[in-house]
Amino acid sequence: MTPYLSSPRVILDCDPGLDDAIAIALALRHLQVVGIATVGGNVGLERTTANALALCDILGATHVPVHAGHDIPLSGSLEHRATEYHGPNGTGSVQLPNPSRPPTSVNAVEWIVETIRGEEGLTVIATGPLTNIAHALNAAPDIVERIAQVSWMGGSSDAGNTTAAAEFNCWVDPEAADIVFRAGLERLTMIGLNVTHTVLLDRPWIDQLRTDINKPELTVFADLLDYYEVRQRSLTTLAGAAVHDALAVINVSHPELLAGIKRPVEVILAEGAARGMTLVDRRPRREPAPVAATVIEWADGDSIRQLIHGALTCGSGSGTGDPSAA
Ligand code: RIB
Ligand code: CA
Repeated sequence: MTPYLSSPRVILDCDPGLDDAIAIALALRHLQVVGIATVGGNVGLERTTANALALCDILGATHVPVHAGHDIPLSGSLEHRATEYHGPNGTGSVQLPNPSRPPTSVNAVEWIVETIRGEEGLTVIATGPLTNIAHALNAAPDIVERIAQVSWMGGSSDAGNTTAAAEFNCWVDPEAADIVFRAGLERLTMIGLNVTHTVLLDRPWIDQLRTDINKPELTVFADLLDYYEVRQRSLTTLAGAAVHDALAVINVSHPELLAGIKRPVEVILAEGAARGMTLVDRRPRREPAPVAATVIEWADGDSIRQLIHGALTCGSGSGTGDPSAA
């Protein structure tokens, strides 16, 4: 099924990545994806790019260009990736088929700039570190006013995950996040851990999904979620898999399913325990803040789970995850 021509047209910048895989499936189902840019994050750029290409093959989206971007954050170094959650290749224990094609280019930043300069009103959905987006804004400040919205899965208005203070995407490249937050974007939406942790896919839900998947090639998504659910339950106190990145897509395709408020946000850059933190000021202030974002604070978990179910089962089954409702 293809999205309606009235759906928002988006650039998806991602680091697949288990939850990025769900985000890609949702974006291809509900939005007009003009192209995918890959970034180093969960795993290295070579793997995130191969994973994005392989997922496009599986999802019948070989027409969607995939451009490889930056592997390393602006700081020039990266202490570690997120393989404890995503597995050595970024796809858990799943070995995706080799991609049917090479990346469209290895110049994602140039492609992002050219694409935005060529089309007013595109939305940028970012589900990894903001390295590519920051490079694009630095190279072409003129694109800021042409972007309809940046919808970013990153940061947190409460706890971090990589450190006590920092969420992974921001922790990898806080300088990039600071550049994006300070760029003067008309609409910047931060979908942080504070809300993504409230939408979980638990074991019964994933088992029901596997039952309901009616295209054999999509069964791999149940395999990806199986791994992610086990890892998140073993490494955190979460009672299921938080598919963080899916919410950055749904914020664009179904904005009525999330709610947030514009708040001042400071990205902490100083070395130390708070580096990579998105310090969200939730005081009831009146004066405007120069660096702010719409911070999402609520999500309709049931409806989001139904959308994920529908995207992976082509609309079959109940989507509620209730085995009795199949
Ligand atoms: O903290 C969650 C984020 O880090 C998600 O984007 C996940 O894919 C990882 O990149
Ligand atoms: Ca990601």
